[in-house]
Amino acid sequence: MMKHDFDTVIDRMKSSSVKWDGAEGLFGAKDLLPLWVADMDFKVPEAVAEAVAKKAGHGIFGYTTRDDSYYESIIRWMKTRHNWTVEREWICHSPGVVTALSLAVQAYTEPGDKVIVQPPVYYPFMSTTENNGREVVFNPLKESDGRYSMDFDDLKSKLDKSVKLLMLCNPQNPGGTVWKKQELETLGDICLEHGIVVISDEIHSDLVFEQGSHVPFASISDRFAANSITCTAPSKTFNLAGLQTSNIIIPDAGLREKFEAETNRNAIGMPNSFGPVATEAAYTEGEEWLADVLDYVQGNLQFITKYFAEHVPALKVLPLDATYLAWIDCRELAMTPEELETFFLSEAHVALNQGKVFGPGGEGFVRMNLACSRSIVEKAAEQIRSAVNSR
Ligand SMILES: Cc1ncc(COP(=O)(O)O)c(C=O)c1O
Repeated sequence: MMKHDFDTVIDRMKSSSVKWDGAEGLFGAKDLLPLWVADMDFKVPEAVAEAVAKKAGHGIFGYTTRDDSYYESIIRWMKTRHNWTVEREWICHSPGVVTALSLAVQAYTEPGDKVIVQPPVYYPFMSTTENNGREVVFNPLKESDGRYSMDFDDLKSKLDKSVKLLMLCNPQNPGGTVWKKQELETLGDICLEHGIVVISDEIHSDLVFEQGSHVPFASISDRFAANSITCTAPSKTFNLAGLQTSNIIIPDAGLREKFEAETNRNAIGMPNSFGPVATEAAYTEGEEWLADVLDYVQGNLQFITKYFAEHVPALKVLPLDATYLAWIDCRELAMTPEELETFFLSEAHVALNQGKVFGPGGEGFVRMNLACSRSIVEKAAEQIRSAVNSR
């Protein structure tokens, strides 16, 4: 039985929301239904709202520590949710996971080195590499029957001495693929053999539909743990992105020292006053809320999959193992990526993420955020249907 109400639409306009208030400036239209950037239109668990309100009520927001109970909540969560034993000293900090990706590039590579990414993938994997003057090397995923898999032959063919890092999206965004242990083992062995450090971005790991199906890369073996860093955060899971709090788990002392040197060099190690209390409350008391969110999002996914199959068969919603981000194949519309973008904005009046920004293999796809009330998904579906049918 669902305890939480996600059907009631909460007005997010005039709340400084990137997704809602920022859409007009970014996309250049007023009438857009925003189903793009990955945050939820849902209120956080009550315990989180209360913890933040208590802190706000205290009224003093000086320099802030991370308490023992904060670390304990992370360790407990990783153990119970992902069967991964994490030690306190492994837990490093970063305001966001994207910041951590950039720090990792700075810590583990030199200008001119190469970083492997597996598109279609979350676009900051490319931008954090390029912004730091390193070279992106694509190892594209292969899609078959709606599931992505890794191409290890292609990967091996692209390795040379200047490849220093591989950014793994585990689970994958977009595509929602939960990687199997066997796939991760093969990947990890290749990286170990060639001296390539693995950055495993596991920000979506709590959003798997089958509990226990996510395999933390570092949990597979001590050798993998010693050759990787794992990016975790409560931000996607509990809708806390605005609190800028993530935890980067680095078991190897040498890799940790290099990462922390970059954190210090950039002077970004200190938390804000609200992130730690919200994180602790979420990891300690947020599990039921998360179960309800995952049920609700799967209902939205079923709705949109069935609706398009019946009414807009040119659009195919790929099956997801995880995340609230539907990945929709629009190639049957036979539009260029630019035409597709204009079509969704000017004719369907919905703001989506365009597949082309996720790199090779993303062209012809769009990503739709389903972490919103069913009525919004229904409205978007109807607008898209009407736009496709009027062509
Ligand atoms: C794979 C992945 N990593 C990182 C992020 C963002 O992380 P942060 O907001 O902590 O920088 C996202 C957000 O969508 C994501 O999908």
